[in-house]
Amino acid sequence: AKLPSDKLSAQKEGYRFFMEKEIYEQADVLADTLRGRVLDTGIEFDELDENLFDGISEIKLCACGTSYHAALTSSYLFERLAKIKSSVEIASEFRYKEPLLTKDTLFLAISQSGETADTLEALKMAKQAGLKTLSICNVDNSSIVRLSDASILTRAGIEKGVASTKAFATQVAVLWMLSLYVAQFKKSLDTKELQNELHTLREVPNVTVIKDAIHEKTKRLAKRYLHGHGFFFIGRDVFYPLALEGALKLKEISYLHAEGYPAGEMKHGPIALADPELFTIALLSENLLFEKTKSNMEELGARDSTICCVSSYMYDKADDFIVLPKCNHYMLEFYEMMTATQLLAMEIAIKLENDVDMPRNLAKSVTVE
Ligand code: G6P
Repeated sequence: AKLPSDKLSAQKEGYRFFMEKEIYEQADVLADTLRGRVLDTGIEFDELDENLFDGISEIKLCACGTSYHAALTSSYLFERLAKIKSSVEIASEFRYKEPLLTKDTLFLAISQSGETADTLEALKMAKQAGLKTLSICNVDNSSIVRLSDASILTRAGIEKGVASTKAFATQVAVLWMLSLYVAQFKKSLDTKELQNELHTLREVPNVTVIKDAIHEKTKRLAKRYLHGHGFFFIGRDVFYPLALEGALKLKEISYLHAEGYPAGEMKHGPIALADPELFTIALLSENLLFEKTKSNMEELGARDSTICCVSSYMYDKADDFIVLPKCNHYMLEFYEMMTATQLLAMEIAIKLENDVDMPRNLAKSVTVE
């Protein structure tokens, strides 16, 4: 089905790059993705059979690139909210590791294009092993959609920038909704908890509207940060996959060295690299593991890393800040930080005069192995 935003995607409409336009579109496409699915009583997916989760005790998510980061994010949500075991596989690894597959596992493929060769082949393997399969894709009638038993579309509209932004935003939203859908089935949340999640989901489009002050701040930071030796993006829990995604965005379009790391893991090696020219982009949540993450930042600060704190909290020992609006749910912070790190990556790449939409060596969709 064609969506109104497909039409809008045809031109840049005054934005410097499609990536910028797509970052700004996120609030609207997220609203589209939620529409008709977040009801007062719970989550509904017209495309899913009620008995899809019968006999299922584990979800195995499989994807590549940015879609893999969405998968990783959701594994925290599936276990926390739906109390269902979940594991995440990089498709190119899964294909050759001789995985043990059992029929109580639902195989969930995630792909923007629906054509990524590794993900498609992994899906075929799961089918051959007799697993139930579900896909989350942005392109209707794509190979992955056609091959899976069921699929949910992300409604992000056409994404032109090679570096994925709005597709990621909608993948995470669908996965979050799916974890609540499973939670309903498994009765793992009480009414109040479920209502709180539904209410928070409805807030997502609002918090992803780009704020001028934040965009301007990323422009100012970009001037200095493009001279860095490298970047660490750190976070814990869902902010760890977001750190991986922030680092990937920066690598893809700026060609600077960036790594995403679980904040608590820095002390086991990477902290050896700390120096003032190593920029740490710290994703500090006020709602989840605040003290733990803050003390990881202190460890890095004590070793002279330059720290940029992306948070609604003004951490006084940070060198720089991207100050976000306060909110009361970690997933809203997730979406605020997501847009901030996307803008930062884009502004650094623009300062470096790179082709933001068509970065070197990369393809939007990798249909060969
Ligand atoms: C390519 C793109 C990435 C994307 C990955 C997976 O490498 O450059 O942006 O995340 O493929 O693509 P998919 O369409 O399966 O989500």
